[in-house]
Amino acid sequence: MTTTSEITIERCAPVDEPDAIAAEVRDGLTRALKELPPKYFYDERGSQLFDAITALPEYYPTRCEREILNRRAPEIVAATGARELVELGSGTASKTRALLYAMAGAGTLHRYVPFDVDPSVVEACAEELTELYPGLAVHGVVGDFGRDLDRIPTGERRLFAFLGGTIGNLYPAERAAFLARVARLMGPGDRLLIGTDLVKDRALLEAAYNDSAGVTAEFNRNVLRVLNANLEADFDPAAFEHVAFFDEANSWIEMRLRAKGAQTVRIAGAALEVTFEDGEELRTEISSKFTRDAVARELDGAGLRLDAFHTDGGGLFGLAVASLVS
Ligand code: SAH
Ligand code: AVI
Repeated sequence: MTTTSEITIERCAPVDEPDAIAAEVRDGLTRALKELPPKYFYDERGSQLFDAITALPEYYPTRCEREILNRRAPEIVAATGARELVELGSGTASKTRALLYAMAGAGTLHRYVPFDVDPSVVEACAEELTELYPGLAVHGVVGDFGRDLDRIPTGERRLFAFLGGTIGNLYPAERAAFLARVARLMGPGDRLLIGTDLVKDRALLEAAYNDSAGVTAEFNRNVLRVLNANLEADFDPAAFEHVAFFDEANSWIEMRLRAKGAQTVRIAGAALEVTFEDGEELRTEISSKFTRDAVARELDGAGLRLDAFHTDGGGLFGLAVASLVS
């Protein structure tokens, strides 16, 4: 490790670039069940709201994954001799610190590569982590992990991490394509860590997405604010009610926004006028819940082997460790 830290931040074509966002929004809002991609939750305010969610009493995934990482980071790092950590959907990287700490302790920490759609979190964690680990190289990528994975710098003995259960926010076909792309980036000495929320009692699941303080509802409505800001739309966020329920057949939580009263929304930047009937719902996110077997199957489909599957003491959350099938 060198003694001076080095920060590079690479910006891919902006995800909130009006033409790109307009095409996606037009596609989603002209479907029978209107839908918006969850990546649009995350501007600076959305990332702050997500952070507030992680501290809610009802939202167990972050606490459970932190417990697993705190306990297992040293053995995960020792098994791989990891020199760099590539984190997809890195956010504030709060749980990642257990991995970096273990890598620093093992004397192998060289580089951290945070990859996120929200520039504010990539910049903030680059600053914080280089202060914490003088000499650490940070290569941040501001991009869309559905589109820009090829911007990840090449390296060896890398630990790829996709934490928080964010993989569950992708539809099954998107997950298959995503895992195959990550597998193509990996070399034989690399490992992939994936945080997966597990199937459990409906009441516990639904409470985590219907918190009593209403933070998840604000997070959900933030997608409308993002469209207002980036596409000159005139959504009234207060005219939409937060809805979240467990769809057992699909094994996912679904978040929706329900129109309170009939309304017409103009989205100038997408040359679109959308009408909502009273009570009409707009899907904003799925959050899939897994079993160990389902995770192993999906990894296998992408040419990856499940080497270990760690859970928290309560068995609520799972952390998969995977490598390339040789
Ligand atoms: N890994 C963190 C944050 C999870 S929140 C944790 O476990 O707590 C999901 C993160 O993924 C957010 O920071 C969000 O900005 C990012 N994200 C969502 N969709 C994305 C996309 N398509 N491309 C890149 N980052 C994305
Ligand atoms: C980022 N992702 C894993 C969160 C989840 O639980 O699906 C996003 C979230 N949505 C509502 N609350 C949190």
